[in-house]
Amino acid sequence: MDKISIETLKVLRRRRSIRRYQKKEVPAEIIQDIIDCARYAPTARNVQPWRFVVITDEALRRKIAETSDHGKFIADAPVCIAVFCEDTKYYIEDGSAATTYILIAAKAYGLSSCWVAGDKKPYAEDIRKILNVPSSHNLISMITIGYSSEETTSEPPKKPLKDILFPSPFGERQDIP
Ligand SMILES: Cc1cc2nc3c(=O)[nH]c(=O)nc-3n(C[C@H](O)[C@H](O)[C@H](O)COP(=O)(O)O)c2cc1C
Repeated sequence: MDKISIETLKVLRRRRSIRRYQKKEVPAEIIQDIIDCARYAPTARNVQPWRFVVITDEALRRKIAETSDHGKFIADAPVCIAVFCEDTKYYIEDGSAATTYILIAAKAYGLSSCWVAGDKKPYAEDIRKILNVPSSHNLISMITIGYSSEETTSEPPKKPLKDILFPSPFGERQDIP
């Protein structure tokens, strides 16, 4: 495998949700490039129903944080990207694919992130209104991005490969840390 592919797999395996960030700005061109990467996410019938809102303004981040339930740390993250999708048949899948691309692109830039729930949450409509997004679009997620200030990165347990295959076509294999 070429070097770039190996690095890509490391990025996938090493991404973790981080909820505490340094008070350090993230360059605008990096955020722009991260969103540009999201454009390449797959969508059903290639409809690309998404719109992204970048929130760096502190007062606005605080308002969004207060409106959410498990997203209070949005207030202290330098950047929050809200992902919206037009109400198409596969909007949740499409928006989730874009969200995942953003998490991975952020990690590739050495940044940390966390997916905060949007669709299905009672606050989704309130966030849409706060951000002046038309009612034709649903909130999929809010993604915090910044430089981690967590000294020890929590390692949420991941199920081993052998437990997630129906049935395992492979022999015993050590998971790659
Ligand atoms: C659909 C979805 C919604 C999530 N919502 C929240 C949230 O509201 N607040 C939060 O702190 N983390 C949220 N997370 C992050 C998960 O808690 C996290 O991905 C999970 O614990 C696994 O940890 P990891 O991302 O470090 O692998 C969400 C993740 C997904 C996929």
